[in-house]
Amino acid sequence: MRGADDYSRTATPVYLGPMDEQWAAVDGFVEEALHRDDPVLDSVLEAGRLAGLPQIQVSAPQAKLLQMLARVTGAQRILEIGTLAGYSGVWLARALPEGGRLVTIEFDPDHAAVARSNFETAGLADKVDLRLGAALDVLPMIEAEGVGPFDLTFIDADKPNNSNYLEWAVKLSRPGAFVILDNVVRGGAVLDRGADANAAGAHDALLWLGDQPGLDSTVIQTVGAKGYDGFAISVVS
Ligand code: SAH
Ligand code: DHB
Ligand code: MG
Repeated sequence: MRGADDYSRTATPVYLGPMDEQWAAVDGFVEEALHRDDPVLDSVLEAGRLAGLPQIQVSAPQAKLLQMLARVTGAQRILEIGTLAGYSGVWLARALPEGGRLVTIEFDPDHAAVARSNFETAGLADKVDLRLGAALDVLPMIEAEGVGPFDLTFIDADKPNNSNYLEWAVKLSRPGAFVILDNVVRGGAVLDRGADANAAGAHDALLWLGDQPGLDSTVIQTVGAKGYDGFAISVVS
């Protein structure tokens, strides 16, 4: 176990090393200082690594923020677009009361298989409804089934579809719900919608959010284990 002293060594002037190492080290200290040891979450991450899944899940502090938002809103129904190995999903599902549901959508069968096993390991299988399919195909089914309305939606999938997912999230939300969109800063590339399709997805999503009279939105920029990025956070009225 590392102590605070190990991290003080990483609090070096920027010129001695890339800032992203320092941001990651601070996230490490934050986890050490503030988060409880959690063998289940460790095994969820390990399963994703072993299966060769991309290591692009939210950081632990980011996941904890999502979980806190779920708790303060008293979420009983949570929607997630983009499951990967189920890391953010485990954090979110743990915020649910007895009888609560996380509906999480994933279109890659290999990712979904790892996630399914992870939700099982975490003892959350009864709270998690994992839907295999492209989100834009699955969302109309969720609407037709009347599974919602949702108290919180976390969007974290293919970035060019951000605005489509936001539109669905709003449609499936109850008044007062949170909608959180990941990866909207992208090292600052959000400023340049010509940079690439993901930057355009972030840029256009923020403009879309600003145009919605029924949404109150902001962006929190973040640095940490995932570099320089950010969340858009909206409240539905
Ligand atoms: N929320 C996860 C990370 C998700 S990574 C976490 O923090 O733990 C993005 C995921 O979205 C990947 O698993 C990818 O396969 C999935 N995805 C990409 N396009 C999709 C689509 N059109 N429909 C559903 N899932 C999609
Ligand atoms: C990528 C996707 C994510 O959702 C993320 O949080 C980080 C990176 C990516 O596609 O590279
Ligand atoms: Mg993401």
